[in-house]
Amino acid sequence: MQLLDGKLTANKIKKQLKLEVEMLKEKYNRVPHLAIVLVGEVEASHIYVRNKIKACQFVGMDVTLIQKDNTITTQDLKTLIHNLNNDDNIDGIIVQLPLPKHIDEQQIINVINSNKDVDGFGIENKGKLFSGLPCLKSATPYGIIKLLEEYNIDCVGKNAVVVGRSNIVGKPMSIMLLDKHATVTICHSKTKNLQEITKQADILVVAIGRAKFITKDMVKQGAVVIDVGMNRDENGLCGDVDFEDVKEIVGYITPVPGGVGPLTITMLLNNTIEAFKSKFKEA
Ligand code: GUN
Repeated sequence: MQLLDGKLTANKIKKQLKLEVEMLKEKYNRVPHLAIVLVGEVEASHIYVRNKIKACQFVGMDVTLIQKDNTITTQDLKTLIHNLNNDDNIDGIIVQLPLPKHIDEQQIINVINSNKDVDGFGIENKGKLFSGLPCLKSATPYGIIKLLEEYNIDCVGKNAVVVGRSNIVGKPMSIMLLDKHATVTICHSKTKNLQEITKQADILVVAIGRAKFITKDMVKQGAVVIDVGMNRDENGLCGDVDFEDVKEIVGYITPVPGGVGPLTITMLLNNTIEAFKSKFKEA
């Protein structure tokens, strides 16, 4: 078994991004600027956002955090985003999810100008991804693609099984694997005979948010296993895959923590730089 070291890969990419930011600063006399909108008090969101800010600072990008309490109205949140859309000093905008229940997330995300939608969650970027057009790609699946590339894992003709059909990970992941010429199957909570399907996977991506759900009886010998889960059980942080159970039979596996997580943030930085460059037609 070989570990797919997301932290190492992320650090390598971040060093390249840092150099790129220095070059952009020299050329344009300013650096890419990310605005992060954080609503409410969800502890995990605050931790993610803190890590995103640190990563921006590491690569030398500007970052502005806009915090609102969870009583904000949909209209006020839309106005806030409109203002960021119209601010020429802001290159990328993310709204940290989840939002409070009274707010329709997709409606808010769709207000973000698609050129600044560095999470790639808006319908325009999603539609472009689906159509095979250049776009800002969702950071988690994009990071997974980068990790597969870093370890020279070829997807052509492979059976790729994605467990989970979220808008953030499962669906865009499936399209990106398809673009890599894998044969893709998407499974979810209503899938029958899940084990039969996951056992066929040469590449298995799991993003369902259930601690240690995937066990060795569900995994093919030598498979590449990508664990997007970030759960907490009695022993601390763990993924959606039972790492100890499967580690002897898999070919490659991402650890949790230190697998997919660091790459998600790195690709968000990458997307913000892309958004900045496309403004100057540098892409
Ligand atoms: N919540 C969980 N993951 C993400 C992410 O990648 N982006 C945003 N905006 N919110 C999230």
